[in-house]
Amino acid sequence: MAVQINPSILSADFARLADEAEAVRGADWLHVDVMDNHFVPNLTLGVPVVESLRKATDTPLDCHLMIEDPDRWAPQYVEAGAGSVTFHVEAASAPVRLAREIRAKGARASMALRPATPIEPYEDLLPELDMVLIMTVEPGFGGQAFLDVMLPKIRRTRQLIDRHGLQMWLQVDGGVSAATIERCAEAGADVFVAGSAVYGAADPAEAVRGLRKQASEACRH
Ligand code: DX5
Ligand code: ZN
Repeated sequence: MAVQINPSILSADFARLADEAEAVRGADWLHVDVMDNHFVPNLTLGVPVVESLRKATDTPLDCHLMIEDPDRWAPQYVEAGAGSVTFHVEAASAPVRLAREIRAKGARASMALRPATPIEPYEDLLPELDMVLIMTVEPGFGGQAFLDVMLPKIRRTRQLIDRHGLQMWLQVDGGVSAATIERCAEAGADVFVAGSAVYGAADPAEAVRGLRKQASEACRH
């Protein structure tokens, strides 16, 4: 299982996004948190910033949409240049149709679950998706403490993916750091979002390398 590390620019300096993307050269994806102040109580950025960021970096963009009505807005993020678009299943009215539209437009389609949303009702949707994102904090803010109570859901999701023989990725987001990444990897995650643990470090690129090493070693067990 190849480990991927996706720094979240939520913890970066928004006035220097091109430099902040460069500061994590070697990361697999840049994780871009889109918040609309409705689905979550915070407001970040939208399509124009994604378009500009796309031109400013070669690192592919992993857009995490914490917004209402993703059925309406998510396709625009593919057009803006996102390589992966994650919508929250709690907000989507037609998740299968939406995932198909995202894929048809040429991006990877991914479904996110808030901490209180179980994976089991969505088992039959998994073949329609390229990734599942298990939130390990309540979405909305960086720098929150990792929720250990999510580990069983990560394990159950990995079991469902394996049972269906799918190649899809399993992402974790929220409180992922040197102190928690091994637990996530052992539970079955293979894509790790880290905001404060990367951009709060003296050397963000070195932090990415350190997280990758820890997760890779934990995955082998
Ligand atoms: C939170 C966002 C995360 C956030 C993670 O709602 O979805 O991507 O940036 O930040 P850390 O890694 O600091 O918890
Ligand atoms: Zn996120």
